[in-house]
Amino acid sequence: MATELPLDAPMVETLAALREAEAACTRCPLHRNATLVVPGEGPDTARLMLVGEQPGDQEDLSGKPFVGPAGKLLDRAIAEAGIDRREVFVTNAVKHFKWEARGKRRLHKKPNAHEIERCRWWNDLERALVKPDLVVALGATAAASLLGRTVTLARTRGTALTARDGTALLVTVHPSYLLRLRGEADRTREYAAFVADLALAARRLRSAA
Ligand code: URA
Repeated sequence: MATELPLDAPMVETLAALREAEAACTRCPLHRNATLVVPGEGPDTARLMLVGEQPGDQEDLSGKPFVGPAGKLLDRAIAEAGIDRREVFVTNAVKHFKWEARGKRRLHKKPNAHEIERCRWWNDLERALVKPDLVVALGATAAASLLGRTVTLARTRGTALTARDGTALLVTVHPSYLLRLRGEADRTREYAAFVADLALAARRLRSAA
């Protein structure tokens, strides 16, 4: 199904033009405290799109998605699932880092429904340009952005879903969830389940090729 664009969407025909438009975004207040916008990254021919929540501290400083600790874990899991990150379009539901100061540290704050909704139009444009065969939502925020409703990860994980625009969608956990797990056994089990979800995505793509 064709991706439906917002009626007032800017006329962008390339990812480079989209990045430029995103850099000027003031659609919600998050741009005020962020360093750089973090556009999605990857080839416009990517068949697989991964959508995270929002940039973290390192992503905010570099302007690139998933380059910090969660990104390192994601890279490892992607490779173990037999996927080449260079062929994947990696992005976030929200393009600016939302944080609060705790001493000298900038602590991640979850984006609210308004911020997710305001940023959705950039994600709709990304999908319109890349036209992925499959999107994987990493965590509940990305799933809510893509589906337009909140879902329980435990219940929807691994099932074939459809994003608001008709793109095939799978939902899995966010790599930061794995980083927060304390016990070694829990971490090992949950990491294996994460890799299995990504491997399922790879199989879906192969069978659709
Ligand atoms: N977490 C995300 O959701 N996205 C990033 O780019 C980095 C961390």
